[in-house]
Amino acid sequence: MTRMAAEQRHRIRFTLNGEAVDRACEPRMLLTDFLRHEIGATGTHVGCEHGVCGACTVNVDGRPARACLTLTLQVEGSEVRTVESLADRQGRLGLLQSAFRRHHALQCGFCTPGILMSLDALFARRANADEAEIRDVLTGHLCRCTGYAPIVRAALEAAAELRGETNREAVDA
Ligand code: FES
Ligand code: FES
Repeated sequence: MTRMAAEQRHRIRFTLNGEAVDRACEPRMLLTDFLRHEIGATGTHVGCEHGVCGACTVNVDGRPARACLTLTLQVEGSEVRTVESLADRQGRLGLLQSAFRRHHALQCGFCTPGILMSLDALFARRANADEAEIRDVLTGHLCRCTGYAPIVRAALEAAAELRGETNREAVDA
C-alpha cells in the first residue's frame, strides 16, 4: 500500500454482532465489502449492488439497512447486526432460522440472510406483526427460487413462537 493510500484510510468503530470493531477503512468502502472482505462475515450476501434485491440487508441500530448502499463510515458508533448473530455460538439456529428450515423457506439461500434480518427487525419492534406486515417487509426482497408462500408461513410461525404461542399446526394450516 502506498503512503497516500494509507493516509486515506479512516478509523471506524462500531459494534458488530455484540463485539467491538475498531479498524481502518477507505472512505468509499461499502459496508458489504467491509463485512465480507475485512471482517470475513460472509453471511451478508451481495446481489444487485443497487439497493434492489435486499440480499445485503443488515440491521443498523435495529433498523434494516441495505449494506450495498451504506458506506462503512456511516455506521460509526452504531450497533450492526448481521445474519451471523441469529445462531448461537455453538452454531445452533435461532428461532427464525429454524422456522425457515421447517417450512422449506429457502432453496439456494441467496436471498435468505437479508430476509431474515428484515424479519428480525420487524419482530423486534412489532411482536404482533401480522401477515400483511410480514408481506410488506418481503416486498423489499427478491427471491428467485423459493416462492414467497413458505417464507410467509415460516415468518408467521416464528412470530407466533416469539409471542409464546406454540400451536404450529394452526399456523401451518
Ligand atoms: S445487493 Fe444490496 S440490495 Fe441487492
Ligand atoms: S432461496 Fe434462492 S433466491 Fe431465495
